[in-house]
Amino acid sequence: MDKIQIIGGNPLEGSIKISGSKNASLPILASTLLTDKSIELLNIPNLSDIDSMINLLKSLDARIELKGDNLKINCQKPRNNFASYELVRKMRASFLVLGPLLARYGTAEVSLPGGCAIGARPINIHLNGLEKLGAAFKIENGYVKGTVNGYLKGSEIKLAISSVGATENILMAATLAEGKTIIKNAAKEPEIIDLCNFLNKMGANISGAGEDVIEIIGTSKLSGCSYSIMPDRIEAGTYALSVLGCSGKVKLMSLNKLLINHLKDIFLNIESFKFNIVDESTIIVESNTLHPKGLNIKTEPFPGFPTDLQAQLTAALTKANGVSFIEETIFENRFMHISELHRMGAKILIEGSKVKIDGQKKIFGAEVMATDLRASSSLIIAGLMAEGKTTINRVYHLDRGYENIEKKLSGCKVNIKRIKN
Ligand code: EPZ
Repeated sequence: MDKIQIIGGNPLEGSIKISGSKNASLPILASTLLTDKSIELLNIPNLSDIDSMINLLKSLDARIELKGDNLKINCQKPRNNFASYELVRKMRASFLVLGPLLARYGTAEVSLPGGCAIGARPINIHLNGLEKLGAAFKIENGYVKGTVNGYLKGSEIKLAISSVGATENILMAATLAEGKTIIKNAAKEPEIIDLCNFLNKMGANISGAGEDVIEIIGTSKLSGCSYSIMPDRIEAGTYALSVLGCSGKVKLMSLNKLLINHLKDIFLNIESFKFNIVDESTIIVESNTLHPKGLNIKTEPFPGFPTDLQAQLTAALTKANGVSFIEETIFENRFMHISELHRMGAKILIEGSKVKIDGQKKIFGAEVMATDLRASSSLIIAGLMAEGKTTINRVYHLDRGYENIEKKLSGCKVNIKRIKN
């Protein structure tokens, strides 16, 4: 298993090109099952989660050609609509093939995704919504077996929680349902908007993406198209928080207006943080102190502070001037990074769903272990901030969601290298 070694203590100076969004690419890849026409996707990030989704689609007889960040895919009728545990357990978003398979073929057998390091991750909201569209489910031997009698039928669905994945599974299925579907309390994340833009380019009829209520008028067939994936807002936020923790000045490129506004919104009340908008795809993030003021933040669904940046913010505040409080309101166990940060001298107390961070003058390099994707990026930030050498183990977690992270950081005067094992 590869390791990453960092000699910390330098400010970040340089520029970073942000890759395509993992969390937009995964549902968009799943939705290509909705048509037998050819699709071209541009700006696909080179990540192991994308490889997992590609392998799953190939197991469903999709023909796929990937050259750099350009992916061509054609989903003909699979020999079987079976998404195996072996493939689904590797990447929970595999569960997003359920809605498209039911809509296109009327049957699907998809492994239950199971929990993960950050929580139980149930799928009840996915199934309740798809049942409202006319699907029937049996759960046997760890698999969800879904069938549709005839075609899915449009319906009004109110989500108990504005789940990103459930919104995506239901809206993908609804594009081929007979009649109108209304999804209330829908997730509003930018990745949902990107999925809907892609589906509408395929000929779907979706309105309200990014709002509480999404309306889908079903159609009989979807066509092929070419589409470029939005930039990754969590990757951009991670590098911005690296500047907050280390000080310095970094140009983030290949963003879009929505992302730039979102980053400005969520980092608005951080005094020492300067955002200079260069143009509609580029910002310069600057911080001139190693000890930003303590913060009091809670994670919320979009447009609030993203849960996917919580671990990274925690690391960036370990040397803050004062005490910070962060409350995690989305997942029940997203504090796995904290015991590792303790090993680096961070003073953090977990109180229920809140953490209290007592900023220190210094934190120190150590041997640490990645436990999940965003925890691993918080250890990278801590390593950049620490005095001395940090070695991060199990970086396969990192490779799920960050493309060429050591190359991108090396371009910002960081002493970082991957040790291949
Ligand atoms: C998506 O996961 C993202 N993953 C996650 O990013 C992100 O943290 C999460 O949304 C929240 O923004 C992808 O897009 C591939 P949810 P998802 O359904 O869809 C509960 C990363 O680091 N819930 O919005 O699985 C659930 O337990 C990943 O890139 C139910 O109770 O998240 C959680 O508490 C991690 N029943 C809350 O809703 C359900 O049926 C939000 O989960 C579904 C969800």
